[in-house]
Amino acid sequence: MVMPIGPLMTEHRLIERMIALIKKELERIKKENRVNSDFIEAAVDFIRTYADKLHHGKEEDILFRDLKTKGLEEQHRKTMEELIEEHRWGRKTVKELVEANNKYKEGNEKKTEVITRCLQALADFYPKHIEKEDKHFFIPVMNYFKEEEQESMLEEEAEFDRNFIHEIYKRKINEIKISG
Ligand SMILES: [Fe+2]
Ligand SMILES: [Fe+2]
Repeated sequence: MVMPIGPLMTEHRLIERMIALIKKELERIKKENRVNSDFIEAAVDFIRTYADKLHHGKEEDILFRDLKTKGLEEQHRKTMEELIEEHRWGRKTVKELVEANNKYKEGNEKKTEVITRCLQALADFYPKHIEKEDKHFFIPVMNYFKEEEQESMLEEEAEFDRNFIHEIYKRKINEIKISG
C-alpha cells in the first residue's frame, strides 16, 4: 500500500533539485557579484507554487489537519508546530527576496546583499526541514492512522493535485489587469 507520505516524499526530491540550483547560483553570484533576476523569479515561482501552495498545501490541509484530530504524543505535536512555523518563515523569506529582487531590477545594486542572504537562508533551511519530515516525523505519525484513513488521505492528495492547475490559473486570471 502506498502511504499518504509517499507523494510528499517524492515532492521533497524535486525541491532538493531546486535547492541544488540555488546553491550553484549563490556561488556564481559570489564570483561575479551580479544578480540574475530571471533566475530569482524562476526560483521564487517554483518555491511559491510548487513547494508552498502544492506541497506545503497538502501537508497542512490534509496531513496536519488530520493529525490535529488525533491525540498526539507531545514530541509529535511539538514537531508539527515547528513545521508549520517553518512554512511561515519560508513565506516571509521569499517575500523579502521578491522585494529585494524588484528593487535590484530597478537598479538598486545594494540589494545583492539581501538577495544573497535570503537565497542562502532558503538553501540552508529546506534540507533541514525536509530531513525533519522525512526522517523524524512522517513515518512515526503514520501510526496514528488506520489503513482506510491513510487510503482516503492519499485519494484526497490526488484530488488536491487534480484541482491544482485550475486553482492556479483562476488566481492568475484574477490578477490580470488591462492597461493603456
Ligand atoms: Fe513541510
Ligand atoms: Fe515537506
